[in-house]
Amino acid sequence: MNTKQKKVVTEIMFHSPWRRYFFPRYLYNFTPAQLCFLCRCIEDTKHIIGAISEVGCSIGSTTVFLNKHLDAQNIQKEYFALDSFSGFLDEDISFEVAKRGKTRGQFSAFQINKKKWFDETMRMNGITRVRSIEADVNQFDLTTLGPLCFSLLDVDLYRPMKKALHELYEVLSPGGIIVVDDCTTVNNTCDGSDQAYKEFMKEKNLPAQIIHGKLGLIRKLG
Ligand SMILES: C[S@@+](CC[C@H](N)C(=O)[O-])C[C@H]1O[C@@H](n2cnc3c(N)ncnc32)[C@H](O)[C@@H]1O
Repeated sequence: MNTKQKKVVTEIMFHSPWRRYFFPRYLYNFTPAQLCFLCRCIEDTKHIIGAISEVGCSIGSTTVFLNKHLDAQNIQKEYFALDSFSGFLDEDISFEVAKRGKTRGQFSAFQINKKKWFDETMRMNGITRVRSIEADVNQFDLTTLGPLCFSLLDVDLYRPMKKALHELYEVLSPGGIIVVDDCTTVNNTCDGSDQAYKEFMKEKNLPAQIIHGKLGLIRKLG
């Protein structure tokens, strides 16, 4: 390709729908330090009995990242990825509005998604260990995923977070870790996570520990 042709192709690419391939964007809901911490949790629990779960997996960005780490570390674990695959549930939103002073308009995110898109993302990335589950956390018995060595809990709102915390902790193996996302009051939409985490830790008489700005940590003693 000569210089003139290269200039034309570059111009076309810049204005084309394919421009995203040439201008990569950061697609994660976690900072690099937070992702590194999640990887460390996976390594620290690799000898603990049980599977990994991500409750609230959305389109699978973090699922891909963590599974690539599992591959690189040659860690053989089952990985459950659960989501409604249609965003927040009506009853959870109603609770936030009625009891936590929110407005319905705050909860429109994550609706454009499908389990089959998530599965295709796993396939395109060569990931075979992930079992996706389409369910409402409020209806699904999370103890059926146990035993678990590590769980990332990321469903944002108070009601499903509180229910999930109890069930995940019940089946967490001794030495296992749960990381609870959005344990911060800075994000007004998701501060139900923060409330659920702090209440749970108090009920269990465990010390609350929030690191990297928003990750609530739960360790079950071995
Ligand atoms: C912040 S996103 C998860 C992000 C994902 N962990 C990541 O790192 O890319 C929150 C997800 O929780 C899901 N969710 C919220 N409430 C839920 C419920 N009651 N049951 C199942 N999924 C729910 C939403 O559909 C959304 O995909």
